[in-house]
Amino acid sequence: MSWSLPAQGLNLLLSGLQEAQLDLRALLHLLGCAPDVNGQAAWPFAQRIAGEVLVQDAGHARRVALSIACLLLALLSLLVSLFWRRTRYGLWVGAVAILLLAPWPDAHLLLAPAVPTSLHTSPNGFAAEGIVRGQAVYQQYCLRCHGADGRGEGVDAAQLPMWPPTLNGSLLWKRLEGELFWRVRHGMADRAGRSTMPGFAEQLSDAQVWDVLDYLQAHASGQMLQESGAWTYPVRMPDASVLCRQGLRHSLRSLAGQRLRVAVDGSNADLPDDPRLVTVHAGVPVSDPECQANSAALTTSLSLVLGLSASQLPGQQMLVDRDGWLRARGQPGRGGWSADDLVCRAGEATGVVAAVPANGDGLDGLIRRMDEEPVRLVRGGFVH
Ligand code: HEC
Repeated sequence: MSWSLPAQGLNLLLSGLQEAQLDLRALLHLLGCAPDVNGQAAWPFAQRIAGEVLVQDAGHARRVALSIACLLLALLSLLVSLFWRRTRYGLWVGAVAILLLAPWPDAHLLLAPAVPTSLHTSPNGFAAEGIVRGQAVYQQYCLRCHGADGRGEGVDAAQLPMWPPTLNGSLLWKRLEGELFWRVRHGMADRAGRSTMPGFAEQLSDAQVWDVLDYLQAHASGQMLQESGAWTYPVRMPDASVLCRQGLRHSLRSLAGQRLRVAVDGSNADLPDDPRLVTVHAGVPVSDPECQANSAALTTSLSLVLGLSASQLPGQQMLVDRDGWLRARGQPGRGGWSADDLVCRAGEATGVVAAVPANGDGLDGLIRRMDEEPVRLVRGGFVH
């Protein structure tokens, strides 16, 4: 068999398995078997489902999907045999045959080692304030090994038993955030049990660890954009409070469901409103903005996710889709929008580049693609 699961099937499989794990944890929590650890219910097992392998290994994903289908079919046969007693022997034999013929996946591919916080999720919501606090934590505790640019070439790196990895590539997106949290708190060791990275449970609070992980993600996003010209992995718009017309105060996150255009001051000061999206001015206040977000934390976070210095920021624009993902970047002095500005794409769907935009500014085409090709964040193989 050489077919592989279509993308939607794989997504369904991943979210189904993820739900099943979370439901199991909730049930065990209710029964008192999964007490709270670091503020959330612990995962009490030494193993978890390895979502990351399912994403990478098409053959394995196919076997898992088929095995689940076989299991459901066998269960269905047993259920039917309860009511349709005349055929029950036939149905039992059928169920056993299905179970014997199922292409069961390798257990060592299905499961991965787990820690109590494996299924924990960050309580931060990628807030700009947290990212900035995380930056200070990084500079104080992590920079000496991981380096100012996150590539693992800090001043102390050469003396370590192993070089720290670069944190700017796919690493952060491959891991479950709860497992990164655990590693920063408790450190890491090599196969021989020798410590490779120290743990910070004594020095840092839980909140500080979530903050530094947000910082790492923001920083890695900007480095990725500068190096490859794309946000290869989805990046959330950092959250911050905004003041909109009629004196309404919101958080950027609460504007989800609408498309946003975030324009950093400078050449964008006289940007007209646009009915297709909500315009948020960031940075220096402008006169009569649709929405204005001028916290210093947001400016710092935007320069991180764009990989730019503060002085390069004025004039930058970003488009945020209805789900809160950063999708397109408009650079100062480039004029209107074009398909090339869509730096976060869903898969390789390049065949559907927007046709000639209706109003000539390219924005219609971009908006259509943002709406029609939603992106999803898959971390450690599971959807966030
Ligand atoms: C003494 C040097 C040192 C310091 C200080 C240090 N790290 Fe590390 N870090 C390492 C090394 C070495 C590795 C690779 C360890 C391994 O793979 O066994 C690593 C790995 C990591 C990883 C990758 C984990 C993974 O899943 O592969 C993350 C994330 C990380 N460090 C974050 C941090 C953060 C955040 C701090 C500061 C709070 C920090 N590190 C401080 C040396 C250090």
